[in-house]
Order: sequence, then structure tokens, then C-alpha cells
Amino acid sequence: RKRLSASLACRSACSSVTVTKALRKPVLFTCSSASAPRATVMAAWVIDSYGPNEVLRFTENAPFPAIRYPNEVIVKVLSAGLNPIDLSMRGGYGAATLRMRRDPLNVNRSGGEFPLILGRDVSGVVMECGLSVTCFRPGDKVWAAVPPWKQGSLAEFVVLSGNEVSLKPGSLSHPEAAAVPYVASTAWSTLVNSAGLNKDNCSKKRVLIIGASGGVGTFAIQMVKAWGGHVTAVCSQNAEGLVRGLGADHVVDYATGAVDIKLKTLDKFDLILDSVGGDTERWAPGLLKPWAGARYITLVTPFLRNTDALGVADGMMQSALTIATKALKHFSKGVHYRWGFFAPSGPALDEVREMVDAGQIRPVVEQQFSFSQVPQAFLKLEKGHARGKVVVSVDGDGIQ
Ligand SMILES: NC(=O)c1ccc[n+]([C@@H]2O[C@H](COP(=O)([O-])OP(=O)(O)OC[C@H]3O[C@@H](n4cnc5c(N)ncnc54)[C@H](OP(=O)(O)O)[C@@H]3O)[C@@H](O)[C@H]2O)c1
Repeated sequence: RKRLSASLACRSACSSVTVTKALRKPVLFTCSSASAPRATVMAAWVIDSYGPNEVLRFTENAPFPAIRYPNEVIVKVLSAGLNPIDLSMRGGYGAATLRMRRDPLNVNRSGGEFPLILGRDVSGVVMECGLSVTCFRPGDKVWAAVPPWKQGSLAEFVVLSGNEVSLKPGSLSHPEAAAVPYVASTAWSTLVNSAGLNKDNCSKKRVLIIGASGGVGTFAIQMVKAWGGHVTAVCSQNAEGLVRGLGADHVVDYATGAVDIKLKTLDKFDLILDSVGGDTERWAPGLLKPWAGARYITLVTPFLRNTDALGVADGMMQSALTIATKALKHFSKGVHYRWGFFAPSGPALDEVREMVDAGQIRPVVEQQFSFSQVPQAFLKLEKGHARGKVVVSVDGDGIQ
């Protein structure tokens, strides 16, 4: 906890300059070589409309990212990671909410987000820092999860807030590091912030992970095991070796027969992390210890779908109604029902770096692609049956 508060104190220096101050005095950039000519364009994979894989377009003329606030850093991308949300965003998922987050004054101006760059993980090198950034210097090797409302990492450069960035684990290569930040930030936000777990209170907790062989699941298994918890993993049979290798104590195959019946024969759980959703939500909360503070947290929520279908205001109202109804229904049965969300956090990645460098967590890379193969990487995601993460080496495969 001491480490986390020190890290937060250091990062608060990064964010202490207000937007008003930044607006009054807008040109506040420091640069490793301030007099050097600045690039105005860069190579990137962009989309100009939502749709199937064909909308992906390679360009050498994407706008070079600019530091707009003094707490921002520009990172040269060496490896990028893809997540299911990139695939969904390519098709327009979450467009209404994300548009509002990017440009709150022009919510109804559709299309303003294009050309849009996807890619949610980055591992690379800091190229330039805003004036109030004290934690990083040009040349630092860093990793980060790029929030979905920001331009992504399938590009030569990406701009992020200093609070979203963390020094990369020394024990990982850039492609390995690019497999971690988005799923780690999601698992951290869910297990720590929503479920209240930490290394001091996790011992002997019984945790059920549904979707255990995917990006979030493989990370969550390792986090709970590093903190001394007991993990039951639900995945298909051919992923059993993978999840056992990551530490799962018990593995249940969902593909052969009714998984809920199999799970009902086991002791009840303190926590369920569900990254599959749908039908699982019907039976999984019944596997929790009643009246013992046990929680069911699902990552598959209708939040963005509601705003896409109903507009931002009505969609949010509908989501609030849905979560309140479900939480109340389950509370009356003695268990807590929650939605889990990704949350960008440099300090959380600092903690993850220590676990990685201590050998408690390893990245699970399913397949690595070169920058010229980004469409193939998306097709791989589209096929499903993930066994970890799909990563893209952005640097040095001849396309630039
Ligand atoms: N709310 C948020 O902010 C947030 C953040 C991150 C992720 N998510 C969501 O969480 C989900 C998982 O993300 P991810 O990155 O881990 O995806 P992923 O890497 O694609 O993994 C999904 C995994 O689920 C498994 N699976 C499919 N059906 C299953 C079932 N019935 N029972 C058990 N496992 C099953 C798949 O294994 P098989 O190949 O064996 O079927 C696959 O390994 C996605 O829907 C994503 O959109 C939400």
C-alpha cells in the first residue's frame, strides 16, 4: 500500500496542472530535442467507417499525435495488443458513448472520430513529455492500456496521460509486454476495486473464473493464485493444460455437458468473475456462498449496447435501471451482483510489473503478427477460441 501511495503521489504531480491553466498557456511542451523538426504524419492502421475487416486501411499520413495537456506523454509504439473490444469497435460498438467521451460538446456529430486508430495495448519508449510529467523521461521503456476513447496503438506513436503509463517490466520483451496492460487493468479493476481482493485478504478465498482461457481469464487466474486464493477455472477441455499451467486448482470443461450441474457439486464460492455472460448469468450467482458478502461480477454488460441503441441519456437510464433491478434481486438472495469494467491505471500497472518481474505472472501470447499483418490479426480475433492475447509488432517489419 505504501508503494501504491508513493506511486500515486508521484503521478499526482503529473496531473496537478488543471485544464484551465493549460488553456491559458497552451504551448507547454518539453521535448528531448526542442529545435528538431517535428513530424506531422505517421504510419498507422485506421478505419474511416465502421464495418467488417475491409474497413481497415494502412496509411503513412495519419496525423501525428500532439501533447495537448502538460501531463501527457507521447510513446513510440514498438508492440501493440488487440482485444475483443477492438473487434467490436471496428463494427461500431460503443460509438455513442465513446464519441461523447472524446468530444462532449459535439455528441450528435457522427463521424468526427474518423480516421480512428484501434489497438488497446502498447509497449514502447517515451518520446516526449508534457511539462508537468515528473515520473517519465524520453527514452523510458513503458507499457500502458490505451482507453477506448483515445486513439489506439496500431500506429507509430500514441499520446497518453502520464497517469495511464507505467515502466515496462524488465523481464518481458515488448511483444510479451503488449499482451498484458488491457487485460491486467480490467482484471485489477474487477478483482481489486469491485471485488475488494488484495494480497492480504485473498488467502483461501474460493474464486470461480468463467472464460478462464481468454485474455482476462488467464491474467485473473495468475493474480488470484499469486495472492493465495483457490481458483476453479471454466474453459473448454483443450485449454485445460494452459489454465492448470497458470495455477488453476480445479478445471471444469464447459463444452461437454451441463457446466452448471458440474459446478453445483463443488463447494460454494466467495467470488465469480464471468467474462462470458449470457446464459451463465442465469445460474452462476446461485453458486456463491449466501449471506457471506460473496460477489458475482460480470464483464459482459449491456452498458455500451444500450447507449448505441437508445442514445446516451436513455441508454444510461436503461443501464441504471437494469443494474439496480439485478443487484436488488440478487441481494435479496444474499449475494452481490456487479458489472466489472476496464479502468486505465498506471499505478495498478506498477503493481503488476512487480508481480511479473517476481515471476508470479507471465503473459500468454496466442499469436504474434507483424505490422503489415494487422488485418490477419483481426481475423484471428474474429475466429474466437482465444488462448491468451493477439499482439502486433509495430516496429521493423518493413512496412514503414
Ligand atoms: N466490461 C469491460 O470493461 C470489459 C473489459 C475487458 C473485456 N471485456 C469482455 O470480457 C470478455 C472476455 O474478454 P477476453 O479479452 O478475456 O476475451 P477472449 O480472450 O476472447 O477470451 C474469451 C474466452 O472465453 C472462452 N469461452 C467462450 N465461451 C465460454 C463458455 N461458455 N464458458 C467458458 N469459457 C468460454 C473462450 O474459450 P474457448 O475458445 O474455449 O471457447 C475464450 O478463451 C469479452 O466479451 C470482452 O468484451 C469487458
